[in-house]
Amino acid sequence: MKLLVINGPNINMVGLREPAIYGSQNYATMLEMIRSTCEQEKIEVKCFQSNHEGAIVDEIQAAYGVYDGIVINPAAYTHTSIAILDALKAVSIPTVEVHISDVDSREEFRQISYAGMACIKTYKGLGLQGYIEAIHYLKDYLKK
Ligand code: DQA
Repeated sequence: MKLLVINGPNINMVGLREPAIYGSQNYATMLEMIRSTCEQEKIEVKCFQSNHEGAIVDEIQAAYGVYDGIVINPAAYTHTSIAILDALKAVSIPTVEVHISDVDSREEFRQISYAGMACIKTYKGLGLQGYIEAIHYLKDYLKK
């Protein structure tokens, strides 16, 4: 199984940014958690982070025919980007959405997720553990 993990803008700043909301574990810790989980599960993984919407669209397009699954936290683009939604629909790769915080209990503008409309499952409010849950869910889903 080949897995692509995509993080959107400012996710590289976790640990520093608003720790009351996103926790104190940093992006390097997240990468380490993902890598060790994938090693245990015998999953080949690439982690990609960008602050640029078009770069995320390019990465999703390039995943076509290469990756079996995607885990994505589009960050603020979750709530604005029809381009990311369309890219996910175009490649039609099983995708799980992750949000570190519980977006449901936050501002009104965070209540819509465009990317989520193309996802088979969403984890929110579990902190960095959400990525691990998403990886396990995708592995199970792809086994069936
Ligand atoms: C986020 C939630 C978004 O609303 C926010 O813009 C982010 C991070 C999360 O992981 O909780 O940057 O996707």
